[in-house]
Amino acid sequence: EVGKVADDSGLNLYIVGGFVRDLILGVENLDIDLVVEGDGIEFAQKLVTELDGEIKESHQDFGTAIVNLNNGLKLDIASSRIEYYEYPAAPPQVEAASLKEDLFRRDFTTNALAIQLNSKKFGKLIDYFGGQEDLDSGLIRVLHNFSFIDDPSRILRALKFSNRYDFEIESLTRELIEHAIDQDVIKGLTTGRLGNELALILMEKVAPEILLDLNRFNLLKYFHPDLTWTEKEYNLALKVTNIKEWLEGLGIEEEVDNCYLYLMILVRSLDKDDIRDFLLKFKFPNDLVSKAIFVKEEVKEILNLLLQSRLQSTIVYHKLNDLSIEEMAYLALITDQPEVKEWIKDYLVKLRRIELEVTGKDIIELGHDPGPCFRRVLSKVKDKKLNGELDSYD
Ligand code: CTP
Repeated sequence: EVGKVADDSGLNLYIVGGFVRDLILGVENLDIDLVVEGDGIEFAQKLVTELDGEIKESHQDFGTAIVNLNNGLKLDIASSRIEYYEYPAAPPQVEAASLKEDLFRRDFTTNALAIQLNSKKFGKLIDYFGGQEDLDSGLIRVLHNFSFIDDPSRILRALKFSNRYDFEIESLTRELIEHAIDQDVIKGLTTGRLGNELALILMEKVAPEILLDLNRFNLLKYFHPDLTWTEKEYNLALKVTNIKEWLEGLGIEEEVDNCYLYLMILVRSLDKDDIRDFLLKFKFPNDLVSKAIFVKEEVKEILNLLLQSRLQSTIVYHKLNDLSIEEMAYLALITDQPEVKEWIKDYLVKLRRIELEVTGKDIIELGHDPGPCFRRVLSKVKDKKLNGELDSYD
């Protein structure tokens, strides 16, 4: 249908980039990037009128638009274009161009494939730069020698893709990466873009491996001079899967997000202020900042507490009750003391589920004056229950 609208407007329309790469690899990808040879915004307008939908965003300068169709499809539409970089890592200047030129400005051969969507040539694979061959042989290869100078974030992307698909970085591309790193080009990126690349990396399944590469190429220093990711951090990160399985085995429903745990492991060697400064500088969201700071602030204290003998359940309850599932997972991850895991388990499967059958409302309904006293009594009863001093009929 989308192709038909392009036919009617006499425009060539292609699906490009990651979607095509993943289609050939047989990997799911729901990001649809379309390129129109012509005016992308005009095409987007036509599309929403004919197929029912709305333009969510459009950028006249770049000739791009985001379209939501009422059938649930989200499309990123761009006009085929070339981008000039006036100086390394500069924001690009844009000019209309053919599809071939548009694909040539992209990062890697495997990401520069297109499939035509017009009816007459529907499904035709367009491969100007040997992308399919590189997909077959598992290679990450740039299209030209200035790729990393134009856009240094591609250095991080190369490491991301090579680990994600278990591809090799082709040898000239590797040399270009090393050369670009020697030239310190990454310094030219804004903290927003750099932080965005790190966040994307942390969300990858193979984040622990990618971080090893960042460390190997000495790139973590661009985020903070004291950041490292050695075998030690890597091995801890590998245990994240075990902890998640352990939680699942306990019947815990909350999903633990790996990226939080990887981030917590990454920052654990920094001090508290450095963690905060680093995360705020790279524009990480606030809830992440507080989770990461937890690594420094409370972990030691809680671990010590959970190791005390004759510890009462009520104390554990009140200590763990404020923590997120990721924070508890982190505690379980870094401890080698079975008692600590036992307490966390106890809290998650038992203590946090203990409720009082009697509430303040019941007492008011019995005709007693409400007051802070009730709250105190109820909380005392709850504590007793937590400690197993009352059974459920008391
Ligand atoms: N691209 C590029 N240089 C960049 C970022 C993106 O050339 N620094 C191009 C690539 O052609 C890429 C496309 O823009 O395929 C879309 O970018 P993005 O959505 O970031 O990446 P995907 O390739 O779709 O990968 P992912 O699966 O990680 O979303």
